[in-house]
Amino acid sequence: MENKINSRLITKMEQIQVLKELDIYGFSKVDNFLTTVSIENFLDLINSKYDEINKTQKVSYPGVPTRNTNDKIIYNLQNIDISFIDVLTSPTIVSIASNKLNDPFYRFLPPDKPNYVLQYYNARSSGQKLDLHIDSHIPFSGSFTNMMQFVILLEDSTIDNGCTTVVPGSHQSAKFTDRELKNLKPLEGKAGDLILWDSRLWHGTNENITGDSRWALIATLSMWWIKPSMDIVRGMSEDIYDKCSDHQKQFLGFCSIPPINPMDRNNTKTGYDFLKKKFKDYNF
Ligand SMILES: [Fe+2]
Repeated sequence: MENKINSRLITKMEQIQVLKELDIYGFSKVDNFLTTVSIENFLDLINSKYDEINKTQKVSYPGVPTRNTNDKIIYNLQNIDISFIDVLTSPTIVSIASNKLNDPFYRFLPPDKPNYVLQYYNARSSGQKLDLHIDSHIPFSGSFTNMMQFVILLEDSTIDNGCTTVVPGSHQSAKFTDRELKNLKPLEGKAGDLILWDSRLWHGTNENITGDSRWALIATLSMWWIKPSMDIVRGMSEDIYDKCSDHQKQFLGFCSIPPINPMDRNNTKTGYDFLKKKFKDYNF
């Protein structure tokens, strides 16, 4: 089945507003990002994949905290269907992410091409409350950031079904979270909305007390030089790789593979020329 993804292109005014909110509040939202048909396509893919993975019994992934046992999760969406990559490389997300995460000194690609990469890409339907945390690993202040979360809601997200909660402006605190803090702001949204935040933002989730699913696609995007949370390049499905554009291959990390041997290459950064080889010739 061909899964065409139709997402909305934001206006220049909306983009300016999103970037302002990211700077000041640390988060923003794009309403009605996905069409109803696209939401349904993604939900079909997610539900059938979840059933396939957990057919005989629920898979327990090693190292997953017991607090997450009520959560449903599917890892590595980039290996499931090209449409999951298409939605992250859609013009709206590219326009925002390029502004925040492009390295202006990359040089191996033209300045108007994205050079940031995918870190981590999962579908999740959370159950338990998730305490406040940051995803940037290091807290620091200033307008510069090097990592962001992009969350595409496939079902309505409400206070009762476990929506994300945030501390507005906390990305500028240069501090790790205070988990006793009260009066968190709930980020409610409708299916199809895109919610995004600076990875330094203090955030968590409410407990899902409804018992219903709350599927969302959750992607972490970062500057090209940050080690991804999953080894996306070595774990890539050849089938999906062959369907990707040069921009998509770069986004997956194929233009920033550290060289094994200085005689081959002495710089981690490459341009699209590097992508001309066959998949099997990457020599992972
Ligand atoms: Fe997080």
